[in-house]
Amino acid sequence: MKIAMIGTGYVGLVTGTCFADSGNDVICVDIDEAKIQGLREGKIPIYEPGLSDLVLRSSEEGLLTFTTDLAAAVQACRIVYLAVGTPPAADGSADLTALKTVVDSMAPHLTDDAIVVTKSTVPVGTNEYIFRRLKELLGREVDVASNPEFLKEGAAIEDFMKPDRVVVGVRRPEVGEVLHELYRPFLRTDKPFLTMSPQSAELTKYVANALLSTKISFINEMANLCEKMGGDINDVRRGIGHDQRIGFAFLFPGVGYGGSCFPKDVRALASMARDHGLNPRIMDAVDEVNSEQKKVLKDKIDQHYGGNLTGKRIAVWGLAFKPRTDDIREAPALTLLDYLLEQGATPQVHDPEASENIRAIYGDKLIYCESAMDALNGADALAINTEWKNYHNPNFSEMRTRMNGHVIFDGRNLYEPDQMVEQGFTYHSIGRTV
Ligand code: UGA
Repeated sequence: MKIAMIGTGYVGLVTGTCFADSGNDVICVDIDEAKIQGLREGKIPIYEPGLSDLVLRSSEEGLLTFTTDLAAAVQACRIVYLAVGTPPAADGSADLTALKTVVDSMAPHLTDDAIVVTKSTVPVGTNEYIFRRLKELLGREVDVASNPEFLKEGAAIEDFMKPDRVVVGVRRPEVGEVLHELYRPFLRTDKPFLTMSPQSAELTKYVANALLSTKISFINEMANLCEKMGGDINDVRRGIGHDQRIGFAFLFPGVGYGGSCFPKDVRALASMARDHGLNPRIMDAVDEVNSEQKKVLKDKIDQHYGGNLTGKRIAVWGLAFKPRTDDIREAPALTLLDYLLEQGATPQVHDPEASENIRAIYGDKLIYCESAMDALNGADALAINTEWKNYHNPNFSEMRTRMNGHVIFDGRNLYEPDQMVEQGFTYHSIGRTV
């Protein structure tokens, strides 16, 4: 099939590339000339494991092309995916300016049998808006489907190639069938292809992210309770997870969730509820608990040093909001770095991928280190934000030698508290008492 992918950001590029890999002819469109030129030369604007190889392969096979010519791409393709950015507006709702502009500009170029598909996470009702707007502009009905994406950064290719379900919202079953064909190569393991109304599909995306965020804020609140009451959240997690109604997944306590999805989607869902006269108490609480949780390392450091960090060197491991990405949007590390700088400490930071993005914000205020061990040189303490694999089994005796003070604030519970005591560290973690 011929597919135009409008918007070559994270979602658009991954989706377009994976569709090209399964034999479709995909034209990726973006208004950013430099990005398109870079992609033509094989330069991938984001870090995502496996993506670069796939882009190169499909480009070489001629199945994946890049252009800034929206009109030509839309004229050439029956399926037009919309994957433009929908950043949060000041009130938490999604800003649809880019999407609306694209809809208006592409309208005159749509083929008679075009199927427009939204892939960006958009407020419920956006599908209906596009449907009506196209009817108004063209004087005829165009098929507009919703196909939310459930990709995780760092595992996007794998998630796309092996989805646990595909959800599409359609007005006519025939449109569902066309999209089912497109996804058939990825559904070999009998995973379901679910068709529903556009509203339900749009809601599914928000509800999924809202529930996952709720699990995280819930377990973080329980971890803080464990800490006060002398319990260990890891044991409690094991204790509850065997009940299949509860399970183990997504119940790891930490420094709060970040990234471009959960914070934005929780707030957007709350904003939508408010627009409909509802009081989104749970979503508001999830968001508030998370904002507090992002301060957890700051509070622990504050308590340990009695608020005075002047002249202290604090090593920081992990800046990205999670491993296997360079994404620092809403990353808990930002809350910690702001605090350390405010208190007069010198952060010595390490991250396998995200340092450059952090440098763009903090410049020379931080010391950027090539290796995790280098970040420990002369440090009074270590604070861990992100559970990158190479932080899991460090050489503790080398750490002791390099560090000035032997204090660890572990925001991801990477180590066993009693072992850390044996190793001679003062060890603070989340929801566990030593
Ligand atoms: C999330 C969802 O997991 C995807 O299904 C969804 O498609 C995506 O948002 C999106 O809406 O586009 P992502 O933001 O890439 O994906 O990251 P996750 O791996 O879900 O992690 C989100 C945050 O939750 C991270 O900060 C992570 O550290 C935190 N987390 C996750 C915890 O603190 N504890 C857990 O047990 C799990």
